[in-house]
Amino acid sequence: MNPDLHTWATDLSDLYAQVWARLVRGVRDRRAPTRHPTLATVTPDGKPQARTVVLRAADKPTGILDIHTDLESSKVADLRATPFGALHVWDEAAHLQMRLEATVTVLTGSDVAALWAGVPDASRQSYGSLPAPGQPIAQALDYAKQPDAASFAVLRLTVQTLDALHLGAHHRRARFDRDADWAGTWLAP
Ligand SMILES: Cc1cc2nc3c(=O)[nH]c(=O)nc-3n(C[C@H](O)[C@H](O)[C@H](O)COP(=O)(O)O)c2cc1C
Repeated sequence: MNPDLHTWATDLSDLYAQVWARLVRGVRDRRAPTRHPTLATVTPDGKPQARTVVLRAADKPTGILDIHTDLESSKVADLRATPFGALHVWDEAAHLQMRLEATVTVLTGSDVAALWAGVPDASRQSYGSLPAPGQPIAQALDYAKQPDAASFAVLRLTVQTLDALHLGAHHRRARFDRDADWAGTWLAP
């Protein structure tokens, strides 16, 4: 679509609503670019790490996003050391880059029992493996999947800032802050 037809990009509150509409769509639409954001964390030795994840929940009123993961994965250790994450999505059809900063809580056990009950068997294979994710193995397939509720973790992202960059004939960039009650500010792109 012609990006100049994206009139939502010309108004701060419309742009903010558009970002959230696309995030919410990613939770239910496997083909939406927001289905597979990149989550960046900081390792305990202070280096950046980024990986693809699936967006499992998105709630505009609270500004909260959920990602499911294996409790033993490195990202959980990262987040326990530094409870901040950055999420990135490039939505090509919308000509829209979304960058979110969030504080992240790692939820486990009884806090996620209800969510685990709703995870289909096929997806449960992603939570629990021997050895743990990231451990060296002699051969490529020397691991066993061991779906286990105790290995299931929900990363709950409380979005703090949201940076939207729209590439139309004119480039427009805006930042929205929780501290400012999501009032947007235009930024030079
Ligand atoms: C399309 C795709 C979707 C993925 N979804 C998830 C996910 O939702 N949660 C997750 O923990 N890892 C997911 N992964 C795997 C991660 O990208 C990563 O390889 C793995 O979690 C280990 O990362 P870590 O060692 O940094 O913790 C996905 C990978 C791909 C390619």
